This record gives sequence, C-alpha cells and structure tokens, in this order.
Amino acid sequence: MTLKKVVSTVAFLACATPAFAEAPQQSPKEKMVWITIGSDALATVRESFKSDGVELSAPLREKGGVVALRLPESQIVKLAGVIHSKLNRCAGFVAHDSETQALEEVERATTAALAPAPSAVSYFINNGPSVNAMLSGVAELNIRNTINSLSTNYNNRYYNVQSGKDAATWLQSQWTTIASGRSDISVALFTHTWTQPSVIATITGTTLPNEVVVLGGHLDSINQSSPTTGKAPGADDDASGVASITEAFRVAVANGYKPARTVKFMAYAGEEVGLYGSKAIANSFKSSGVNVVGVLQLDMTNYKGSSYDFGMVTDNTNATLNSFTTSLISTYIPGTTYTNITCGYACSDHASWYSAGYPSTMPFEATMTTDNPQIHTTGDTLTYMGGTATNSVKFAKLAVSFLGELAKGATTGNTPPPTDGGGTGGNTLTNGVESAQYSGAKSSMTCWTLTVPSGKTSLVFNTAGKTSNTGDSDLYVRFNAEPTTGTYNCKSEGSTNTESCSVTNPSAGTWYACSYGYSAYTNVTMKGTY
Ligand code: BES
Ligand code: ZN
Repeated sequence: MTLKKVVSTVAFLACATPAFAEAPQQSPKEKMVWITIGSDALATVRESFKSDGVELSAPLREKGGVVALRLPESQIVKLAGVIHSKLNRCAGFVAHDSETQALEEVERATTAALAPAPSAVSYFINNGPSVNAMLSGVAELNIRNTINSLSTNYNNRYYNVQSGKDAATWLQSQWTTIASGRSDISVALFTHTWTQPSVIATITGTTLPNEVVVLGGHLDSINQSSPTTGKAPGADDDASGVASITEAFRVAVANGYKPARTVKFMAYAGEEVGLYGSKAIANSFKSSGVNVVGVLQLDMTNYKGSSYDFGMVTDNTNATLNSFTTSLISTYIPGTTYTNITCGYACSDHASWYSAGYPSTMPFEATMTTDNPQIHTTGDTLTYMGGTATNSVKFAKLAVSFLGELAKGATTGNTPPPTDGGGTGGNTLTNGVESAQYSGAKSSMTCWTLTVPSGKTSLVFNTAGKTSNTGDSDLYVRFNAEPTTGTYNCKSEGSTNTESCSVTNPSAGTWYACSYGYSAYTNVTMKGTY
C-alpha cells in the first residue's frame, strides 16, 4: 500500500461518510456565502459540482494552501459531502458571510501558520484544593441524562430548523436552573441570522472580570443525508461535549466556586454547516476587544474508540495552552493517557477562536482513525455508545480542571491561590512554560516546583526580567527541597533579573527553582525546561 493510500483510508474512517440525498439546485436569487478550503481540495470539488450542473466561482484569493470561493448557501451540505466522499477526509472548510471575511481568512490562515496566537496570561497549576473539591462531584448520570435529553427529545438540531432552536431554549432553561440563586451568573441566548441561537452562561470573575475563560461545545447536529428532516440524534457529536460542559458548570456552582476570572460556558449553534455560531461569537468578542485568555473546545467526548483517553488536536490550537491542558490531565486525571492528533483544516469550533487570535485547545475522544463511525447519521445514539456516559466523565473532569486552574478563584471553604507568581511560593511549573510575572521583596525567596520524569539528560531553569522590570533577583535551584542561599544544587547570581541554571542528567522527581531578592525586584518570570 502506498503512503497516499494509507492516508486516505485513515481519513475515510475518521469522519462519517454520508450518502447525499439532498442536492438542492441553485436558484438565481439565492443567498451566497463565501468559503475557504484547502487548495488541495479545489479541483475535486469543482469537478464534482460541475457534474451536478453547479459552476463554482473562480478562486477569489489563493495563498499558502488556502483558497476563497463563492457559492450558493444551499450547496454547503453538498460541499461537505464531496470532500468526505471524494477526498475521503473531514470536510474542513469555513463559511463566511462576506467576501471580505473570506479574504481575511486566507490571509489569516497563511500568517497564523507562521505565528500562532500568543497566550494572554501565563498558565500554571496551583489550585488543587478547589479543583479537587469540584472533581469529586462529577457524576456520570448527569452527563448521561443531558446526552439522552438532547439526542432523543431534540433529535434534529440542525441550525436552520425549529427543533434546533427548541434545543437551545431547553438548554438555556437547564443552565438557568443550575445558576439559580447566584446573582453573579447569567444565562443568555446569543441570537444569529439563522434560526438556532447559541447559549452562553457567564460566571463573572471576582477580581479579574475582564479576563475571560471559555468552555464550549456545539449544540447543533446534522443528518448528512437529510439535514432538515432526517433524524440527527448527535449523541456523541456533540451532545456529549455540551453535556460534559454542563456537568462542569453544575459542579462548579454546587461547590460555591467563585472564579477570579470570568468563565463562560457556550453551546454553539451551526457548527456542522461551517462553524457558524462560534465564528459569530469569536468575531464579535474580537471586535469589542474581549480578552479571552483560553478556550476549551469539547466536540465528541463519549465514544471510547482508542486505547488513548485523549487525542490532543495540534492544528488550529495554541501549543502553550495544549501543554497546560496535558499538564491538567497528568495532575488531575491520573491513569489516563493522551496522544497528539491533527484534525484537518478547521474541523470544529476551536478553529473559530484560533482564527480570531485567541488561544484554544481541543482534547478529542480518540485518534482520527478510531473515532465514532456513526456521526452525522441516525446511528449516533447513546445506545451505540453502550448506554452510558462513562467516557465523557474524563472530559467533564478535564473541563473542571481547566476552569479551576485557568480562572483560579476558590470553592466554598478553600482559599483562592495567586493568579500570578505572587511571591508566595509553592507554585507549579509546566515543562517549557513561562510562569506569570511576579515580584519580590529584598531577601524574599519565591519558589516554583517542576516534576522531572526519569531519563532526562538536561534540565534548565531561566528567570527573565520582563518589560520595565526593576531590581535584582538571583536564581537558586535544589532537588527535592527548597534551596536556601547556603544550600542548593545550582545558583546564578548576576546583577540583573535574567538568570540561568543548568543541571545535567537531573534526578527524576521534584525540582525547586527560587528567585531570591538580592534587592527588591519586579516583573520577573520563571521557566523550567527538561
Ligand atoms: N465533530 C466533528 C469534527 C470531527 C469529526 C473531528 C471526526 C474529528 C473526527 C464536527 O462536528 C464536524 O463534523 N466538522 C466538519 C467540518 C465543519 C467545518 C463543517 C467536518 O469535520 O467535516
Ligand atoms: Zn459533526
């Protein structure tokens, strides 16, 4: 078998491959949309449309492997089908409301490939007591019930039909019930130019309300052979993601969690027709300057098809946020495994946020070859997944860890941890990830820990003086205990805040890296890399 053959077989299995019963004909007055797709798909798509009598526009712009085209809105479902069946891969296209947006997307896709979105805040783990309190409340039955209601009572959640809208109203009322009694929580519909609204629940942050953490999944479903009238239970794709997020929201409120940053739970409309809902929301946030510091996308969480528990999508996501997310998995869901996967050009709502310049991450239920084969058909039911939501429990736990460690703050009875290095010590570093900026008094010792696995040949800690840093801090590093200025494995005591310590063949276990205030200092970060 040639490599090409292997690749296409793999992709064939990765997505549902529907039969296309509906092939609506183009009418002269019809609404046009603009799409961007991978250039590799263009010839095949054009050929296939032509044989059905639909002439595609010439490329409006093509650059860096992405091309913008115009076509009638009714042809979008056909487009996905052509890519699935002719190219044997996930559709991976983005639909836009205007030519300007499509052209911008071509530019964005080209430059984003070179320069991934920077993260707005540092990511680190230091909120164990509150996260663990919430984790112990996560219950499979609640997740199962939500999947069951959505997939049986609202089994066509297509973006343009009444039942798709009814599903949104139902979810809004569920979330409103969870929020009841909390004046810092609101639940609202985000309406669009099509029938189905998105649903957003907001917990306003106590101390950093302008920094926003987003957790989302898509509310819509699709029966690809009959979008408007066929049954589309979408139990896995994506009632499971919405249900996982709903359970994270429920345990947060049940434990009296008050986040420092604002947390928003989102159920997006219209993902299956080109990331419509998430794109509208991400772009509106972008144009009003909302500071989103991290987005978790859960799309398909309940099918156990792989020996890996999580497939981390590496394309259209932020590498630093992905690394933070895998640290959360290791810390809070021990015994589970993950591997890296690539989804395709824009397979889910994480890509809308990424395009808008926000850091996003998408842990997935399987690898691309082992995901649920029933998606986009009448067969995507809870029964097909064994009648339980066991697999989604891991994702609900990850969602809880994500909000607890990114939004910080505390549950009832626990103390909020610092949202930056804070000078309190006891903060955990993630391999290769810079800490938040911190400051310290003269003679203070501010410590971080990094867990180093066995078999590493080098370990380097760096402090960096960031913009307008002042004073002089020195770096002390010690294995298994906090160093003092007299006891350490390595020290670096230059006259600035930029210091470096290297250890060859480091012992496996906990390494402590501390900034010592030679004089009072400000705006310093710590990083450890093995
Ligand atoms: N949940 C799927 C994406 C998916 C499917 C990821 C299989 C990994 C494996 C999502 O709802 C979807 O169907 N996306 C479309 C693209 C979208 C832009 C219409 C797809 O992948 O075809
Ligand atoms: Zn889908």
